[in-house]
Amino acid sequence: MRTHFCGDLNKTHVDTEVKLCGWAHRRRDHGGVIFIDLRDKKGLAQIVIDPDTPEAFKAGESIRNEFVLQVICKVRLRPEGTVNKNLPSGEVEMLASEVLILNSSLTPPFMLDDETISESVRLESRYIDLRRDVMQKNLRLRYDISKNFRNYLDKNDFMEIETPILTRSTPEGARDYLVPSRVHQGEFFALPQSPQLFKQMLMISGFDRYFQIARCFRDEDLRADRQPEFTQLDIELSFSSENEIMQINEGMIRQMFSDTMDIKLPNTFPQLTYAEAMNKYGSDKPDLRVILELVDLTEELKKVEFKVFSSAANMTNGRVAALKIPGGSELSRSEIDAYTEFVKIYGARGLAYIKVNDITQLDENGLQSPIVKNIDVDALKAIMDKTNASNGDLIFFGADKEKIVNEALGALREKIGHDKGHVNDLIWAPLWIVDFPMFDFDEENKRWNALHHPFTAPKDGHEDLLDSDPGKCLSKAYDMVINGSEVGGGSIRIHKSDVQSKVFKALNISKDESAEKFGFLLEALQYGAPPHGGIAFGLDRIVTLLAGAESIRDVIAFPKTQKAQCLLTNAPNEVDDKQLRELHIKKRLTANQKND
Ligand code: AMO
Ligand code: AMP
Repeated sequence: MRTHFCGDLNKTHVDTEVKLCGWAHRRRDHGGVIFIDLRDKKGLAQIVIDPDTPEAFKAGESIRNEFVLQVICKVRLRPEGTVNKNLPSGEVEMLASEVLILNSSLTPPFMLDDETISESVRLESRYIDLRRDVMQKNLRLRYDISKNFRNYLDKNDFMEIETPILTRSTPEGARDYLVPSRVHQGEFFALPQSPQLFKQMLMISGFDRYFQIARCFRDEDLRADRQPEFTQLDIELSFSSENEIMQINEGMIRQMFSDTMDIKLPNTFPQLTYAEAMNKYGSDKPDLRVILELVDLTEELKKVEFKVFSSAANMTNGRVAALKIPGGSELSRSEIDAYTEFVKIYGARGLAYIKVNDITQLDENGLQSPIVKNIDVDALKAIMDKTNASNGDLIFFGADKEKIVNEALGALREKIGHDKGHVNDLIWAPLWIVDFPMFDFDEENKRWNALHHPFTAPKDGHEDLLDSDPGKCLSKAYDMVINGSEVGGGSIRIHKSDVQSKVFKALNISKDESAEKFGFLLEALQYGAPPHGGIAFGLDRIVTLLAGAESIRDVIAFPKTQKAQCLLTNAPNEVDDKQLRELHIKKRLTANQKND
């Protein structure tokens, strides 16, 4: 139906007769001449319909936004002064000889270039939203990135293998999406939170290098960087060390950045241990573009009169830390109040601060602060020395359980860093976080949880700690972080069933429970399981970063809302009783429904 794409036309096509198809993006009537911006997937072309062609002109008069057209026209240079430098086809226009309306359109619920439309309206009519240039570009980028990863992995002898969607629960830490079985009354499949166990099984089967662009499902609280249904680039290799795996994956990310965006990432990504990252940045996914760092003061503030500090410093797992903001004494009261509110999101109970006006006077004369009167001069000196403060600086403090201090000051560091320009000149700051602990303690349920997942191998020499001191046991897990976003994570796996049993025991998973849930894995590990490990990248997150999109939803064709709904299809939805009966499911009525 067409000879060219709109967006491809330029000066070299002058005098060519072309046939174009697309949508009427905009129609303008200019004193007897009609202009249509015709849009297809490559861009816009300006069609001119002259009254000299009466039939085309008549069609032109009835064209409205988003009508679907086929136009036969001749390319000519635009008259001087009317060149549009913002359009690739902006030097030329097309004089129409025939205009065929292939379909009309209702008035769209929003104009494509209206930036003020709410996301819910866009999601309700996603097929129109996806016509927008930015969405076309985002999905194109997504495809280019996937293609690039596939090529790299193919060249490196990886093979793509599909794994089941209807399966058993894989423990990645979220709630499962369940699918009732019709055939087996009262039994359920779980949708995979990741292909973790299948890829390990493929290593046991000797495939050696596997990958898959795999859909994963997790019923968890959603945020801007999380979807209930998302895509992983999932990778697993046999007979490779942590460093080899990190090298191969670093190479893949470096090549993709270079090929798709012409961005050169460093030849080696820095590696930080989890402990260092938490200590300096309060986060295991630090944004290394921000130059501010946390300074630990737990030891120095154990004896001060100010109870907020001394009690946190003396509690088990307590921490007192400072965040120095160079030149921060210029922050206004209301800015400090806003930052205090901000840290409360992370559970902080306050945000003590000291403005350093005159460092030679370590009292209320030189230090402007609600707390200095309750801190002795030795401690004040230690604070000034350790934070390397000078006049004009402001020092914020967090004092609480380590977890709260880290989360609150870690988030504050990135917020103030970007708000106030405390950043270096890196545009892309990738790094690895290594030496994760095997477990973290779940205070609520008083038990250890796997920090990565229960199939992660302990670090060499740490196996005995599994029994004696699980909190000190480090693992062979690694995460890749770019600009403060955890883009991927993986580990070397346990390949011996006795070590796997020990880890289940540390996690308080009984023999019966582990046999019931993971019996197939424990058994498979006994039939010559090779040493193996891997990683999974969050494809949606990587594309979000590279597209410069605000939300992960902007790089997914048909995403769910924050409330895990699809506004286009209105899923999830009620189903009829017959279907439920077939699935052996009976609905429980809510209190309100019972009262009706
Ligand atoms: P993990 O749970 O760390 O590891 O997931 C890997 C990567 O997937 C992305 N991701 C998400 N992206 C969008 N929405 C979500 N809800 C979501 N959850 C995770 C993140 C994350 O780094 N099986 C292991 C991998 C392995 O050990 O090989 C796993 O799934 O970018
Ligand atoms: P208060 O003694 O509660 O009035 O607090 C004095 C200062 O300490 C205020 O600036 C509070 O914001 C701050 N503050 C209170 N609790 C904490 C905490 N847990 N961590 C850091 N600062 C705090």
